[in-house]
Amino acid sequence: MRATVLATGGAGYIGSHVAAALLAAGHQVVILDDFSNSRPEVIDRINAIGPGRAVLVRGDVRDGAILDALFGAHRIDAVIHLAGLKAVGESVEKPLLYQKVNVGGAVALFEAMLRHGVMRLVFSSSATVYGMPERMPVTEDARLGTTNPYGRTKLAIEGIIDDVAVAHRDFAAISLRYFNPVGAHASGTLGEDPRGVPNNLFPYIAQTAAGVRERVRVFGDDYPTRDGTGIRDYIHVVDLAEGHVAALEHLLRGDDVEGRNRPINLGCGKGTSVLEALAAFRRAVGTDIPFQVVARRPGDVPEVVADPGLAEQLLGWRAKRGLAQMCADHWAFQRRRMRELG
Ligand code: NAD
Ligand code: UD1
Repeated sequence: MRATVLATGGAGYIGSHVAAALLAAGHQVVILDDFSNSRPEVIDRINAIGPGRAVLVRGDVRDGAILDALFGAHRIDAVIHLAGLKAVGESVEKPLLYQKVNVGGAVALFEAMLRHGVMRLVFSSSATVYGMPERMPVTEDARLGTTNPYGRTKLAIEGIIDDVAVAHRDFAAISLRYFNPVGAHASGTLGEDPRGVPNNLFPYIAQTAAGVRERVRVFGDDYPTRDGTGIRDYIHVVDLAEGHVAALEHLLRGDDVEGRNRPINLGCGKGTSVLEALAAFRRAVGTDIPFQVVARRPGDVPEVVADPGLAEQLLGWRAKRGLAQMCADHWAFQRRRMRELG
């Protein structure tokens, strides 16, 4: 089954790996991106990996005219919607911007899909919709609730998709709730390259190992966890990307998918503490990585680990790449970026 897939935000960290995974699986890819948080050369890098070439449409996902032209020019079978803003801290400062871009973008996109009869959607959601989970590992039926404006946009969009699927019974969607994506493509050409000071642990460790940052700040060692530091479910971005292909193909097969938006966790089901992540990264780099324990980061939870059982049962997907591979690939990309930047 060869499909033509629109990947919004396909030049971003996760989107570029999704585009590469779609090409690798034999699908055709159209990328819509405004490069507000990525660079055009990413498209060349995706196409250098191939096979085949992704087509680029430059523009804002909120622009109905661009969407109409895109859906008119390409016979799109399904959409993977990744475009959006994702910085939790920024969302606290600019809540309306997050509503405008994330919720506004989703509404404009879904309207255009319905205008053009495109009825298959995979949406980039997040484990942030679980807020402070009561039980570990987290299953998809856990109580939802989030602690920040970014998370509220993800919850809102999931709800909008639920409603669209009720109103249009031939519409079928999967909301993928990502846990903590890390790592980079094996080619070393695609990866995460955050602007400014990284918020997330892996990019911060990588920049510290590269000498850009002085030391990693470990946010609290007094949590009720095995070594006192926060535990997360890190997932290799290539595994995550392959999960999108599995979700897409599940929707296109069409068994019992219409009239619903199904949430599915994408994680490994394995928790790693901050100190364990540091130790694994140190092994990948081969040198010491300075760190210092500081106060807890407000809003952080002790532990978030996925139950990835539904993804395996429904999509036949499970993460294959372990922590050592995540660190090695993340580091290879970081080193390459440093060389490029001189
Ligand atoms: P990213 O910023 O690297 O990628 C997002 C892409 O969307 C960028 O290329 C950006 O230029 C583009 N974009 C933003 N606004 C746009 C607009 N209005 N129109 C067109 N393009 C636009 O982020 P990412 O880490 O690749 O995340 C992708 C998606 O996954 C986001 O929706 C994010 O919320 C979600 N997500 C990410 C994580 C994570 O840890 N990275 C975790 C959970 C969920
Ligand atoms: C963060 C976001 C979450 C988002 C997720 C994936 C917050 C509060 N939450 O979650 O909404 O879905 O990223 O993008 O921002 N840590 C350190 N030092 C650092 C950075 C992090 O010790 O410099 C610790 C944290 O306390 C946590 C772990 O490392 O225990 C992972 O942190 P991070 O990578 O920011 O991810 P999340 O907190 O899971």
